[in-house]
Amino acid sequence: MSLWCLTTLVVVVFVRGDDAARPPRGGARSSSSVAALNDLWVAAVENRETATELSSAVYGAARQAEIAAKTAALIALDGTPAPAPLEARADFDDGSFVTVRANGTYVVEARPPQPPPRDAAASIMDLEYGRELCDMPGMDSTRRAPSAEERYVDVVKRRALGYDGRGRWDIWYERVATGGAARWHLADPTVLSFAHLGSLNLLEVAIKDLVRSVPGDVAECGVFRGGTALVAAAALEAYDHGSRLVWALDTFDGVPDTDEHTKAWPERSYAAPEDDVRRNFGTVGLERRLRTVRGQFGHLVDSNASLPARLALLRVDADTYQGTLDALRLLYDAVSPRGVVIVDDHHLGGCRRAVRDFRAERNITAPLLPAPIDYVLGCPLDHRRTRWLAEDLLFFSSSKQQQQQQQQRAAQSSSPRRRILTEPMYVAQNVYWRKKN
Ligand SMILES: C[S@@+](CC[C@H](N)C(=O)[O-])C[C@H]1O[C@@H](n2cnc3c(N)ncnc32)[C@H](O)[C@@H]1O
Repeated sequence: MSLWCLTTLVVVVFVRGDDAARPPRGGARSSSSVAALNDLWVAAVENRETATELSSAVYGAARQAEIAAKTAALIALDGTPAPAPLEARADFDDGSFVTVRANGTYVVEARPPQPPPRDAAASIMDLEYGRELCDMPGMDSTRRAPSAEERYVDVVKRRALGYDGRGRWDIWYERVATGGAARWHLADPTVLSFAHLGSLNLLEVAIKDLVRSVPGDVAECGVFRGGTALVAAAALEAYDHGSRLVWALDTFDGVPDTDEHTKAWPERSYAAPEDDVRRNFGTVGLERRLRTVRGQFGHLVDSNASLPARLALLRVDADTYQGTLDALRLLYDAVSPRGVVIVDDHHLGGCRRAVRDFRAERNITAPLLPAPIDYVLGCPLDHRRTRWLAEDLLFFSSSKQQQQQQQQRAAQSSSPRRRILTEPMYVAQNVYWRKKN
């Protein structure tokens, strides 16, 4: 999981006096308004040569603005006068720029030089699945009670994320995330780290939506020990009244050494046997939803392996250029019209390139939408959570020495502080698009 450096971009945060409109919350949006918002996103970032790079850049700027806004909120809570609304701006080599405002939530404003400037303003959180992510129980400011289905999926998420019940963190904002990449290579029964919660939420929201009207199963290319696939199965169990399957495709022998990007990684990264996936599904009784397919995605094209005929959702989590491209080539045609493709690892250069090449190869113009996955920085939070989040943001913006002092104080305290953020990630790790009719 290497972070992408914005080498050609400059992101600055500055204070501005005017007020950004806050997108309305609550109530269903018509599909035409979603389409209009998605189109604005396209106008802002997508119809450009460097489209995929831009979506990460804009997301980065949005996060910067959000950090500034939440930090300002904390200062205000402590009695210091609130500064004016903040905005961040991403500048590009060709002289164009995108501004992102933050007033509790954020707004993307783009003035691309070609085509001629137009008024384009859309909140990232208001794109296709943005708001639903904010409105999940435990994340929304209304504190609605979760449904039985949501509670069930939550239990499986805890299982997938390796929640051990010992207060290391809690999924509903209470505690923090520790762990991460280093744990993935251990032979413990857990499959994912806390940082994946946002990915799982996106998956749940998409499945809940898709089972209403889009036919087909769910497939994940790149499953490791099956953590994400397990949550997909749980979401089907909760929201689909049929018998849709989860197809888990992998070498089950780790990432093959097929491109230069992969060589930076330890050999056979993420090697996990098929049995691990089965066992994980078995622990929650969902084996009947599982179909596994073994092999390199590129080799499966001409094999006689049994592959899904129709998919409502395709999730690609292969990490590499070749794996991502091969997976899309293998299964994109099986995706139903209006089905959704989610690509993990868009923060990795090889993966981004593969998405761009595949979309160009297939002339795909559907907007590539970013999803906030590590934490929902764009979501309005209640007072208590805003405070925690703001405290975390301040913590991460302080010096290493100050951080150490704070940690020492926290260790001595009888009530350890809550941390709800990991180191902020200024890129969109998950992107998705909806296949056109
Ligand atoms: C980051 S892990 C996936 C994590 C997983 N989605 C989860 O929920 O834990 C990447 C996976 O992709 C698989 N993979 C990468 N390239 C592949 C390829 N070309 N063919 C088949 N599997 C591949 C690896 O074996 C590995 O299990």
